[in-house]
Amino acid sequence: MKLELNDFEYNDLVEDILANKEFRKLENFIHHKTDRLEHSKRVSLYSYKICKMLKLDYVSAARGGLLHDFFFDKYQGKSSTSLMKNHPKIALRNAKKYFKINKIEANIIESHMYPLNIRCKPKYAESYVVSTIDKISCLYEKSIGYTNEICFKVGKTAIYMFLFLFS
Ligand SMILES: [Fe+2]
Ligand SMILES: [Fe+2]
Repeated sequence: MKLELNDFEYNDLVEDILANKEFRKLENFIHHKTDRLEHSKRVSLYSYKICKMLKLDYVSAARGGLLHDFFFDKYQGKSSTSLMKNHPKIALRNAKKYFKINKIEANIIESHMYPLNIRCKPKYAESYVVSTIDKISCLYEKSIGYTNEICFKVGKTAIYMFLFLFS
């Protein structure tokens, strides 16, 4: 299910990132059964909303959340485990290359895999929010993805059975 970005304040905060050609390439990478751009937008939007509600730095949450998976490697085979550990560093390097990043945004990106990766711990409340929303989004996206796949397979099997029985 595609995310609707109809919060004008939110859109203003992240429009330069969403307009960046390099960043938009994330759309071409599969991530948690959706694409990496869609996943990043979901994490960013909900982190922004929660941080705003909690009177935290919602601007850094929106921008750091959007950039937390700014990397172009694919999860495949044996390299998946090292990519799981290393991608926050790659994402931070890419974020710094294309945008001005503050210390909260940097920590959000670097620590978002905590506690799966304990090398970099969250230092700010905003980092904990983004890291938690990232995990919830992952579960949501995977469950939607698997449900769609199962429905597709069940539908396909039903059509074949119908054709077999009535032909
Ligand atoms: Fe990640
Ligand atoms: Fe993520």
